[in-house]
Amino acid sequence: MSKSISGFSKLSKSKKIDWIVDTYFSNKEAAKIILKQYWNTNEKLQQLHDEFIENTITNYYLPLGVAPNFLINDVLYTIPMAIEESSVVAAASKAAKFWLDRGGFKAEVISTTKIGQVHFKYTGSYNKLNSYFNFIKPQLFEDAKHITKNMEKRGGGILDIDLIDKTNDIPGYYQLHATFETLDAMGANFINSCLEQFAKTFKENASNFPEFTHDDSNIEIIMSILSNYVPECLVRAEVSCKVEELDEGNNISPEAFANKFLQAVNIAEVEPYRAVTHNKGIMNGIDAVVLATGNDFRAIEAGVHAYAARNGKYTSLTHASIDNGIFRFWIEIPLALGTVGGLTGLHPLVKLALEMLNQPSAKELMKIVAVAGLAQNFAALRSLTTTGIQQGHMKMHLMNILNQFDANEVEKNKLIEHFKTNTVTHSAVVEAIENLRN
Ligand code: MEV
Repeated sequence: MSKSISGFSKLSKSKKIDWIVDTYFSNKEAAKIILKQYWNTNEKLQQLHDEFIENTITNYYLPLGVAPNFLINDVLYTIPMAIEESSVVAAASKAAKFWLDRGGFKAEVISTTKIGQVHFKYTGSYNKLNSYFNFIKPQLFEDAKHITKNMEKRGGGILDIDLIDKTNDIPGYYQLHATFETLDAMGANFINSCLEQFAKTFKENASNFPEFTHDDSNIEIIMSILSNYVPECLVRAEVSCKVEELDEGNNISPEAFANKFLQAVNIAEVEPYRAVTHNKGIMNGIDAVVLATGNDFRAIEAGVHAYAARNGKYTSLTHASIDNGIFRFWIEIPLALGTVGGLTGLHPLVKLALEMLNQPSAKELMKIVAVAGLAQNFAALRSLTTTGIQQGHMKMHLMNILNQFDANEVEKNKLIEHFKTNTVTHSAVVEAIENLRN
């Protein structure tokens, strides 16, 4: 029976667990054991995790895997990936190896501008507002100096601030639209702090602006927040080779494979139902690296999908071409990532992941992440257009099914052997386990 509780966040961790267990679980002892099983025995490490969020009761594990052999701009990387889906790391590794033998991936950062907005209401004349904005603009920069000082020393900071008239959408609605360069930081706190300072300066000085009469100096700040839509924080990654090098070994000629692959990409470019799944496969690779490197995968997801719909129709994030016998496959996506600040200096596994990537700058990480997305899409389309996706998927999923049935090591080894030459389906695995056990 569910019940409400007040002051929950003030309870100790063990009292929180007692309440959860008493309220929700029939087998209270078993529930308690499971929750505590996932605590780290290193108390300091556990406390670090407890303090990431409020009301932590335990840790939620995801596997951290690695995909080696990624050649990116002639540098070899082993890419860390945190993900639960069985086939993702295997697919990334396979794609990495495939392109390692064909010159690797090329990647470049196109732009790194981030965006934030102060949303406000104002009902007076636009001309007066505009002249107030021009008057106060230097002060917006000046008053934010205590926030921007360090970022400026490193070459970043506020790039510009514009006044945007949105009154066609909502009567009286305007924005201060600001652009930022945050270098190696994702910059969310930096941007939001600047925006809140802009809002304060903008509101507080309005009543002293001589052109405003009392009535039209009234500026109502609605909110100040960064945008996770960052179409000016763009990275591009690409692979290419001669068509004849696309030797699949799958009873399909390189030319036929290249053409089928191209058509699969074309379908995702025109058909939103397919584009969403196509892009989901890309995000399998992207999210896994974003998570492993301590970045905000929800922000990345939101921004990337908005970008996929930027022309009013949801479309593919990757593109392909065949020209003069050259096959080319590329991705262009917005990625606001950080390699300093946030979790990057706190979470021990994130620190290791970044060290494994040779302490990348944010720009380098943008390239690596884009490559992971492109590789994942290559692997998915390669399977889809040749063997079908289930062969590889089910092979990787076999272990999950065996674990569902508590298969022991001997059973696992026998069944893995058996399914090397038999098709994996859920029912075939169940039948094989039963046969083995009888
Ligand atoms: C599954 O997680 C991802 C795929 O569906 C992607 C795709 O269809 O391109 C295999």
